[in-house]
Amino acid sequence: MKPEVIVALDLMDEEKILDLVGLLGSKVSYYKVGYIAFYRFGWDLVDRLQDLGKSVMLDLKLDDIPNTIYHAIEAILPHKPTFITIHSSVGKEALVMAQEATKGEIGLLGITLLTSLGEEDLEMLSISGDVRDIVLKRARLCKESGLEGVVASVKEAETIKREIGEDFLVVTPGIRIFQGKDDQKRTGTYRDAKEKGVDFVVIGRPIYDSDDPLGVIERLEEV
Ligand code: C5P
Repeated sequence: MKPEVIVALDLMDEEKILDLVGLLGSKVSYYKVGYIAFYRFGWDLVDRLQDLGKSVMLDLKLDDIPNTIYHAIEAILPHKPTFITIHSSVGKEALVMAQEATKGEIGLLGITLLTSLGEEDLEMLSISGDVRDIVLKRARLCKESGLEGVVASVKEAETIKREIGEDFLVVTPGIRIFQGKDDQKRTGTYRDAKEKGVDFVVIGRPIYDSDDPLGVIERLEEV
């Protein structure tokens, strides 16, 4: 399946998480452990998922000075997640050091701009310019720093692939089955992501909040 689905495990009950993983079975190989699950269940959950043969995207969105980030990644390394994330806004020195710290054993993904931010939010943060330009510039910085790819919305995926290269990974959250109103502003459907050449989609609530998570996965290509 391309894009490959990474299910975001933003749940507060470890049993529910493991039930979901069991239910999705061989249909899903990648899971994202972010703040919500990691701060509750820690390495235990990461290790359990890997023991079940799953690949883990550890989404801790590192955001600190170069030395701190370097040693944080050293601590992550023995747990061998497939991907980890870092805010591209940490700057080039920290990105380069972070990449060095992975020793090429973990895929480092740069967060370009959170998909919950829209033009209005950016203005409030004094980040001026077109969202696409900002994301592309940050994606370039990640590429130049040696990262494996970026996290960006479906709206910017095509430009990143075209301008930076096919082999630079684009991982896309903010996937919605039916477009509706929520905290994600730059959203798209699975089919949009497929058309734009996205490598991985991250899907959380549309799967774990559904009465039929397996059905959602199976019907992704249709909606
Ligand atoms: O529930 P939903 O499908 O919106 O989940 C999206 C997931 O992707 C969340 O875990 C969120 O933390 C994460 N994410 C994001 N935007 C980014 C990076 C990660 O929404 N730029």
